Amino acid sequence: MDPAQERETGALQDLDEWEDDLLRRYPEHPESDRKFRAYEAEARPGVREFYRLNHQHQTMDFVLEKRAEYLPLEKRRMTVWEALEYLNTLVDDSDPDIDLPQIEHLMQTAEAIRHDGHPRWFILTGLIHDLGKILCLFGEPQWAVVGDTFPLGCRFSEKIIYHEYFSENPDSQRSEYATPLGIYEEGCGLDKVTMSWGHDEYLYQVVKDRLPEEALYMIRYHSCYPIHKEGAYQALMSDHDRAMFRWVDAFNVYDLYTKSSERVDVDGLRPFYEELIEEYLPGKLSW
Ligand SMILES: [Fe+2]
Ligand SMILES: [Fe+2]
Repeated sequence: MDPAQERETGALQDLDEWEDDLLRRYPEHPESDRKFRAYEAEARPGVREFYRLNHQHQTMDFVLEKRAEYLPLEKRRMTVWEALEYLNTLVDDSDPDIDLPQIEHLMQTAEAIRHDGHPRWFILTGLIHDLGKILCLFGEPQWAVVGDTFPLGCRFSEKIIYHEYFSENPDSQRSEYATPLGIYEEGCGLDKVTMSWGHDEYLYQVVKDRLPEEALYMIRYHSCYPIHKEGAYQALMSDHDRAMFRWVDAFNVYDLYTKSSERVDVDGLRPFYEELIEEYLPGKLSW
């Protein structure tokens, strides 16, 4: 791929490669001794290039532009099941033996949550949490769909993976963003903070009036590894955020450690999930 094209699309072999790299970074399951991946010190070159593009291009101006473009939610009207099938058209053809269709990964997550006896809204959150990745099908490059999310409008934390690539981000030169608080007030709460653009915020906006707040935190911040894994940006958070992030932490275990190459019986499970969708998110939603 030539460099210009790579900037347009990203540098990952497929959209799942960022999540696969998360297992390199966080191989230890917090509640068991199981290791999920052999230790590799460095991300693959394509993954590094992906982080570089992400850190370079995610600016406040870019995010405001994307919010104005997507958050009117006027792209499509779809049920949750239709959105699952639409996301499934995103074919990862780099390694068909390992890469399951997106819908199966989502069902694996949901089934693991169900297996542990969690509430129905938690199971549903597992099923839908990555639906925002349909941004890719709307033509967004990988670096604007997946990747760790982080606040804009303040100094980029050194706890963000490949922090050094922010030197190429124009926001690094803006004096109003140069302090840890930047344009925000201490303890203002993450709801007031503009985060980098990606599948988390987009799906949050689609479902925000319909699910319990705990579920909404999981959806909105599940890619915010700088906060939920690294403990950065505490000064921006409210006590309420900190209480709610316990749910983000609980969800992360399922998000990271339930992927397997075992097939899921999508048709067999469909009635259970259709009913669950009907309970919280019936009918066509605006995307
Ligand atoms: Fe995700
Ligand atoms: Fe996920």
